[in-house]
Amino acid sequence: RDAEGRQYGEYDLVVVSNRLPVDHTIDEDGQGVWRRSPGGLVTALAPVMAKTEGAWVGWPGVPDEEVEPFDHDNMHLVPVALSADDVELYYEGFSNATLWPLYHDVTAAPEFHRTWWECYKTVNRRFAEATAEIAAEGATIWVQDYQLQLVPKLLREARPDLRIGFFNHIPFPPLEIFAQLPWRRQVIDGLLGADLLGFQRPSDTSNFLRCVRRFSGFNVRQQQVQVENSDGGVRLCRAGAFPISIDVEHISELAHRPDVIARSEQIRHELGDPDTVLLGVDRLDYTKGIGHRIKAYGELLEDGKVDVENAVLIQVASPSRERVESYRLLREEIEGAVGRINGTFDTLENTAIRYLHHSYPVEEMVALYLAADVMLVTALRDGMNLVAKEYVASRKEVDGALVLSEFAGAADQLKQAILVNPHDIDGLKEAIVRAVNMPPAEATRRMRAMRRQILQNDVEHWSRAFLKALEQAGTHD
Ligand code: G6P
Repeated sequence: RDAEGRQYGEYDLVVVSNRLPVDHTIDEDGQGVWRRSPGGLVTALAPVMAKTEGAWVGWPGVPDEEVEPFDHDNMHLVPVALSADDVELYYEGFSNATLWPLYHDVTAAPEFHRTWWECYKTVNRRFAEATAEIAAEGATIWVQDYQLQLVPKLLREARPDLRIGFFNHIPFPPLEIFAQLPWRRQVIDGLLGADLLGFQRPSDTSNFLRCVRRFSGFNVRQQQVQVENSDGGVRLCRAGAFPISIDVEHISELAHRPDVIARSEQIRHELGDPDTVLLGVDRLDYTKGIGHRIKAYGELLEDGKVDVENAVLIQVASPSRERVESYRLLREEIEGAVGRINGTFDTLENTAIRYLHHSYPVEEMVALYLAADVMLVTALRDGMNLVAKEYVASRKEVDGALVLSEFAGAADQLKQAILVNPHDIDGLKEAIVRAVNMPPAEATRRMRAMRRQILQNDVEHWSRAFLKALEQAGTHD
């Protein structure tokens, strides 16, 4: 404890995210065990965490579960409990029915409820307290994503000695949209507690800085905000773009593994060896433009530009946020649309759209990427979209065509994809036809350029760049 009664913990680097990077599963012997969750973030951070004294603060993913802190994979994990009410108000409510649609260009109508906001504040405070308790003096804290935007300020108040970074994985909306949020000032203030704020795209950064100018009154110079503290002192908060990536080595290793390659061949074979396999892989989320993609594909079947006899679209839609109303409605809509198209165009041997409402292990995903001649990423708005990057990383033969929405952050890096505006159904149809008929030399040229980009910028590169900038940011030292 210091003179002011502050208690320090022992961890020099603390990552804070809504979910812990582990899932509770049952192993072969029927024992409950924790397994590392799939995903790049934990892959990027695990080595840094093992080197320094690293800890991760997050929710174990099940309501009403009080779990003691434990060690896993050389990381110290600190569970934050959420009650069933917290899950409903903070997670499903404010995070996923207010902020999520608001930050994704209101692709669904955001709901504003004061009870949700109250719970968001309470839960953010709980995360901040858990973090303040375990952080060593002068530790580096890295807060992740929109569920925890108040944590930087709460942490700074409790522990001014900390160096605080925040990364927003989803878009930051334009001022005119953000302005709808009844608690816009509090959210901006919450974020400005950080020394460094990371966004996916330069446009997210400039959206944020415009909101700062409008709603905080603080001076903004270039990418730095001069934050006035309550004691009259001024502190700098820097903002910048740090586009996230994937674990390229892991994906590429899988793409070379004989069993994964054999599985990809088996997939094509089981589909009846069509000339063209098209693929969509998304969480079943209204921001992903799955309906637009399916509509375009249905019209191409109708126009005779693609044929069930020699083409198939595989749509993997992994279950997500199933208790949130707009997600339930979306499921009805998509499954209705798929059913209508298949009902119209299927033959006894062939199916137009193979729709799979499942999640799959990464090995199966890579087999699907290898099996797909054309990858369709048609998000209406997406912070980054890692599926697009995984497809590119998997294509070791330097072939295959990527149709990519300009509204996904990945479009900034994957400029040689066929870029589309998914709202333009005719344009989307043309892009799909172009991808299906792309001459091999052109596909290779585009894929080579995209692979160069992705191979040079993996997720470890991302986390190193962010942590380095964080070290230099702020007014410490
Ligand atoms: C997006 C968000 C993440 C979130 C993930 C899955 O990628 O940026 O913060 O974890 O979706 O959503 P879920 O609600 O299941 O955590």
